[in-house]
Amino acid sequence: MKLTRRAKEVLGKLESFESEDLKTALDKLAISREELEEHLHPPEDKPYQRKALYKDENTELLVMNWADIECAPHDHGDSIGWIQVVNGTTKQTVYKVKGNRLPKVLFHEYKEKGDVFFSPRKGVHKMGRKGGDPLITVHLYSPPIQGMKVYDLDACAACIVSEECGAWWPEDQSEKISEIKLRAFKKAKKKKQSSVKK
Ligand SMILES: [Fe+2]
Repeated sequence: MKLTRRAKEVLGKLESFESEDLKTALDKLAISREELEEHLHPPEDKPYQRKALYKDENTELLVMNWADIECAPHDHGDSIGWIQVVNGTTKQTVYKVKGNRLPKVLFHEYKEKGDVFFSPRKGVHKMGRKGGDPLITVHLYSPPIQGMKVYDLDACAACIVSEECGAWWPEDQSEKISEIKLRAFKKAKKKKQSSVKK
């Protein structure tokens, strides 16, 4: 059965959307690289090119074809999800976030072909290709992502992006729903120390 039809069969009939239900559904889909081939398009100047394989009000299934460019740190709005590495290796960086403060790196990890990893609600991460093998990943989110927050750590800023924008700082103003100025950890600490001395 074709992948898009299988996705409709499996995801369209899901009645529960807890993390374990989504993982079971993704396993059941048993997606191969070969059947993704027709859905891949060159990422061009962006970190990845994505294509929706299935979407309804509860879930969305996407394939991402990566360039050798890391995406920006981002969350997935209120969605949870599972990410499957179908080809290549990805380096994932996971951040700690608190309110409107600048995210801090918690750890890096590498996920290889065949690995499936969880993306928690409001978790902030970034991904990129590691090595020369093409990186292809499949992402199952519930509910479909809305209000994704993308970070520009150098500019100490974050913005909520529209559905048209991926995990990169939007070039087009129409893709930017709102912008947030972040507070840097270090600056806040220095200010506190100087006020103590006084
Ligand atoms: Fe992500």
